Amino acid sequence: MKDVSIETITKAFLAYCSDDTDERTMFVLKSMVEHLHAFAKETQLTHDEWLTGINFLTKAGEITDSERNEFVLISDTTGMSTLVDMLGSQHAGTSSSVLGPFHILGAPELPIGGDLKRDNDGATVVIEGHVKDPDGKPITNAVLELWQTADNGLYSNQDDAQDEYNLRCSMKVDENGRYAMTTVRPSPYKIPDDGPVGDLLRATGRDAWRPSHLHFIMVAEGYKSLVTEVFPSDDVYLDRDAVFGVREDLIMEYQEKTDLDELPADLAVGRNVTQPYYKVDFDFILVPENT
Ligand code: BEZ
Ligand code: FE
Repeated sequence: MKDVSIETITKAFLAYCSDDTDERTMFVLKSMVEHLHAFAKETQLTHDEWLTGINFLTKAGEITDSERNEFVLISDTTGMSTLVDMLGSQHAGTSSSVLGPFHILGAPELPIGGDLKRDNDGATVVIEGHVKDPDGKPITNAVLELWQTADNGLYSNQDDAQDEYNLRCSMKVDENGRYAMTTVRPSPYKIPDDGPVGDLLRATGRDAWRPSHLHFIMVAEGYKSLVTEVFPSDDVYLDRDAVFGVREDLIMEYQEKTDLDELPADLAVGRNVTQPYYKVDFDFILVPENT
């Protein structure tokens, strides 16, 4: 097309693409470019504003390395990670939520009732629950992974003072689908905000904070794997999570307790918990693979 204009540029783009392009690729690309062109027209985008956007992405590229992916943070903080996740998981099970950048493979297995808190500072959390199917039947072959921040709001891979696998474990549920462990009460923390994403959050008066949470991955043969996180109901950042991870069904209650008789009988620490301790009961629902 020789005479490209504001009116014809979207058509010109489409005309240049080969008819042999994979159907889904073309469908998604067409829609994306149509929306981009419509966005520029609707906002009457200036050259300086467009350059600001290009510079933002350039800075994201410069700060990205094998440990830090600023593009994932852009996706997380614009709600795209959560939106795409929700579009792909509309089912009757426990909601999924963002994986985040701090998961590492190889967390050691902890027996049911095991202790993750060890000598970590902070209040003791006693968490237990069951992994079930949507009819309430226990899923007996589920394996979970848990990872979380320490009391200082840092994951083990952000903090040289912590062991590599501090506050990380895998656990096989028992014949009733039950899991249980003692751990430490995690703290709210800020997502990495020293790059362009942090600049954008500050420019728009937004928080870099996430409410405190426990990350989980649940895997069981015959069921869809679940990547999720659970949040305490009393966290001050629950309504302004920087990455939009909170869902109603992912909110847990910290039940403050001092009665040691109420502790589960099979804890590795026995009754040796800091006082008060916080009891959490949280069940997970996995959906069959073919739903
Ligand atoms: C996290 O939960 O660890 C996290 C999630 C998204 C972005 C940054 C951190
Ligand atoms: Fe996290």
